[in-house]
Order: sequence, then C-alpha cells, then structure tokens
Amino acid sequence: MSQYKGIILAGGTGSRLHPITLGVSKQLLPVYDKPLIYYPLSVLMLSGINEILIITTEQDLASFKNLLGDGSQFGVSIAYTIQPQPKGIPEAFILAEDFIGNDNCCLILGDNLFYGQYFTDKLKKAMDRDNGATVFCHHVTDPERFGVVSLDNKRQVVSIEEKPSKPISNYAVTGIYFCDKQAVEYAKGLKPSSRGELEITDVLKCYLDNGQLSAEILGRGFAWLDTGTHDSLIKAGQFVQTIEARQGLKIACLEEIAYRNNWISLSQLEAQYQLFKHASYGEYLMKIISEES
Ligand code: G1P
Repeated sequence: MSQYKGIILAGGTGSRLHPITLGVSKQLLPVYDKPLIYYPLSVLMLSGINEILIITTEQDLASFKNLLGDGSQFGVSIAYTIQPQPKGIPEAFILAEDFIGNDNCCLILGDNLFYGQYFTDKLKKAMDRDNGATVFCHHVTDPERFGVVSLDNKRQVVSIEEKPSKPISNYAVTGIYFCDKQAVEYAKGLKPSSRGELEITDVLKCYLDNGQLSAEILGRGFAWLDTGTHDSLIKAGQFVQTIEARQGLKIACLEEIAYRNNWISLSQLEAQYQLFKHASYGEYLMKIISEES
C-alpha cells in the first residue's frame, strides 16, 4: 500500500452561514459537542493517515492552531497552509504540492461529516489502489447540488458532472477524494468554471479519461451530512447528539481514535482528560481510561 498524506480544506468565507461565520471559521463551529473539523480529521485518522495538512484562511489560521496545535496530542503531525482566496477545491492540491511530494493523498472537505459501520474498511480499500483516484458516492434526494456520477452495472464510473441541472443519477460525490500525485498536475491544468472556481469534478474527469477513476458506494446504512446551511448544521448536531446519547460512544473523539490506533499512550490520554475534565468530552475520555487501566 502506498504512503498517504491527508489534506483538510478548511478555507472559504462560509457566506451561506453569515453572520455566524463573520467572526469564526465555518469549520470551527460546533457540531453538538466538538468543532466541525474534528469530524473530517477523525476520518483521516481512521484511515491510518497521520501526516496532515490543514488549508485555511489567513484570518482563521491562529484559531485552528489554537485548537489543534501540531497534532501531537492526537499522535499525528499537523501542518498548516493558507489559501488566500477561495479559488476552488483543486487549489488544495496545488497548495499542497510540496507536502504531497511523491506520495498519494486523501483530500477531505472540512465541512463534511461521515458516519457508518465498516467505513474504515472502505477507506482502506481505496488506499489499496496505488494509482488513480477513488471517490465515495452516496444516494441523495438533491443530486443537482453536488458532483454526480453514473455507474455501470459493474459499478465502474461512466460519467461525472458538477451540479448538473438534469442529474443522470442520484449518486452524489461526497467530499472525500483519494488521489495519486497526478492530482497536482491535473489541478494545475484546469481553468475556472462559470462560478469562477476550479472544480474538483474536472480533476476527477482527467482520471476518468485515463480509465483511473474508481467509486465506492456508501450505502443506505450510512450517513453523509453537510453543514452548509443553518438547517443542515443544526441537523448534523442533532444527529450526533442522538447517536451519542443512545450509544454512550462518541463520534469523532480524536483522542480515542489515536489511542486505539496505538498513536498515543494512556498517560497522554490522561493529560487530555485533565484539559477537558469539566466537559462531557473529558468524562468520555475518563471512561476510556478507566476501561483500559
Ligand atoms: C463540492 C464539489 C462537489 C461535491 C461537494 C461535496 O461542492 O464541487 O462535486 O459533490 O463539494 O460536498 P461545493 O461545496 O463546492 O458546492
């Protein structure tokens, strides 16, 4: 299996959430008991990726650093870079060129929330493909809001289109992309779309044209939530609250994932507990510590 680096794109102005996002980055808003960026970060960590680049705005950089630091408390290494203007998702590959080097990468959007059983297996399956790109698709009611793929009966990608007015299927492309390093060159060759941005779908089309685009379907037992509007943000929070209250298990507890990946020790977990002991997040860490001691 190739080496993978992780990239979280957490830029943008969050204009659809104004005025909330005038003073704070969208990806730092709470989704129930933790900041939004914890959720995509947890996905990278569940994939076993421990070298991560966060791309954000100049204005928000300090806040992300305050929250996540160098990542050592989660057993990962986090670096940061700035996207001066929101010029589209593929710009992430260009900004991350040196970081990616000769490795493959997983780009995840900082505002996507994934939840479902066997997700880690699907992620690892994508990572087993050394060459090309893999997208994850999910059946949605409103495909015209997303990138849309059509698949043949062997689940091979036949076409991919960005926000089609007449979608060919209900399968939306979610905001997680596994790519080999060709993504950087493909991104550099793109021209902005009619909305003035580079489109990730155009990068994926380059892979498709070369017979190198694979798709994994996230089935109906899976939840893919976005947080782009006030309603979807609160619904995501309610979803997390419902599952966590029922199970007594947290979604996207980064310390738990790090501990179970053997990336941090019990004493590092205890140090994190000390930071959060007045919050339910800290109580949860204590529960894990007690079970493990
Ligand atoms: C972007 C992509 C789209 C993808 C979506 C997933 O859309 O362009 O292909 O389906 O993310 O969240 P945007 O958020 O830029 O509208």
